[in-house]
Amino acid sequence: MAEKLWKGRFEQPTDKLVEDYTASIHFDSRLYRHDIQGSIAHCRMLAECGIIPHEEASLIVQTLGEILRDIERGKIELDSSQEDIHMAIENELTARIGETGGKLHTARSRNDQVALDMRLFMREAISSILDLIGLVQSSLVEMAENHIGVVMPGFTHLQHAQPILFSHHLMAYYEMFGRDFARLRDCLNRTDVMPLGSAALAGTAFSTDMEWTARHLGFSRVIGNSIDAVSDRDYLIEFCSASAILMMHVSRMAEELVIWSSAEFAFIEISDAFCTGSSIMPQKKNPDVPELMRGKTGRVYGNLFALLTVAKGLPLAYNRDLQEDKEPVFDSVDTVMATLRLLSKMLPQIRINTERMARMAGQGFTAATDLADYLARRDVPFRKAHHVAGRIVQYCIQAGKELGDCSLDELKSFHKAFDEDVFAYLDVSSIIDRRESVGGTATPRVKEAIARAKAELKSRQPGSKKNIETDE
Ligand code: ARG
Repeated sequence: MAEKLWKGRFEQPTDKLVEDYTASIHFDSRLYRHDIQGSIAHCRMLAECGIIPHEEASLIVQTLGEILRDIERGKIELDSSQEDIHMAIENELTARIGETGGKLHTARSRNDQVALDMRLFMREAISSILDLIGLVQSSLVEMAENHIGVVMPGFTHLQHAQPILFSHHLMAYYEMFGRDFARLRDCLNRTDVMPLGSAALAGTAFSTDMEWTARHLGFSRVIGNSIDAVSDRDYLIEFCSASAILMMHVSRMAEELVIWSSAEFAFIEISDAFCTGSSIMPQKKNPDVPELMRGKTGRVYGNLFALLTVAKGLPLAYNRDLQEDKEPVFDSVDTVMATLRLLSKMLPQIRINTERMARMAGQGFTAATDLADYLARRDVPFRKAHHVAGRIVQYCIQAGKELGDCSLDELKSFHKAFDEDVFAYLDVSSIIDRRESVGGTATPRVKEAIARAKAELKSRQPGSKKNIETDE
């Protein structure tokens, strides 16, 4: 392993097993850009405050820029000879410019350095995820708009319940993803806090200017307590939690896509580009992508629990346990981003079997509630009307027919209030369009929801700082 920057008080070399066990370079090397970005800001601030000479600061800044380019061109290997990304970059700096490189670490520690790096990384990651949620929402709105006349059975308990517009069903997911967006935007707001300068835990005795560093790095504010700055990871836990909820929504949709593409439902066909075959059964076209979306939700839940468990019971301030925050967070970022990207691409390519959906919308006694409502509107108490409709359903089941197959005389034999107009009343589209309550499935209501969504998406600049509400 490369020379240790903290070797001063040690007499014996580190055990090789310990080096391997404690190293984080294999996963934190992806923070190289943020680490250099933070170091450049820190170095400039040190010079601004007269803590290190301007010429030396310029040399450090310039060399850090060169190191960044060399890493990006693959000229520097960030390998296991280094403990972590912070050491790797500082070692490289000192190798290039000698002792002057050692001035960079004035008035900071790796504890506030890693805290800063993660906040810089998360600011970008959350902004990208906000953009991707917007893409998924746009796909949903577009589908809803293109299929506005399509009817389907709405389900409760996975049993036919009442007919609904397919677009209404899609817009329900739009709402869920809207809340996921808001949760992550709030999380971005709490991420947007600058911790560098808190040093090991107590702050620094040098006359630094944390506000300067914050401004330079585009942070809205400086953290208020140096111990908190290096100890807490609540914004990461919040991110993992919001990601878990987001994936729960994705997973519910994925589950529906799987069920709906089965031969039994046959509501949709997922494009070949998003399915895979079987190695033994030639006829198979499997919905592996939604299945994996459902499956990967599990690991995102796991990441939340990993983080909560790591943080639980840690005395203040920094403890090395906190190094374990990165892999779960990175994994959630990667999984959520890949999932949303794929979802936004897969949705527009799904073929909707409108004829089959419409046929099923009227089956399974989905008009039974309206049959009862019909009587209730004719002054029959709803409880009584419900009972009569239930008797009619039972009669139909025994006779092997649907409600619409009954004659008026048959209906009248259950209640005299039935009249000729009952058949029009039970028509699927009139059932749907009567549901004009706020947020209901009536066509004008769904069209309004689509229009509102389009306006919202248009006004939203995903990931933009303008969207960060100050709710703290
Ligand atoms: N690799 C460490 C981490 O990710 C950096 C901070 C190390 N600090 C320390 N005092 N050992 O947490």
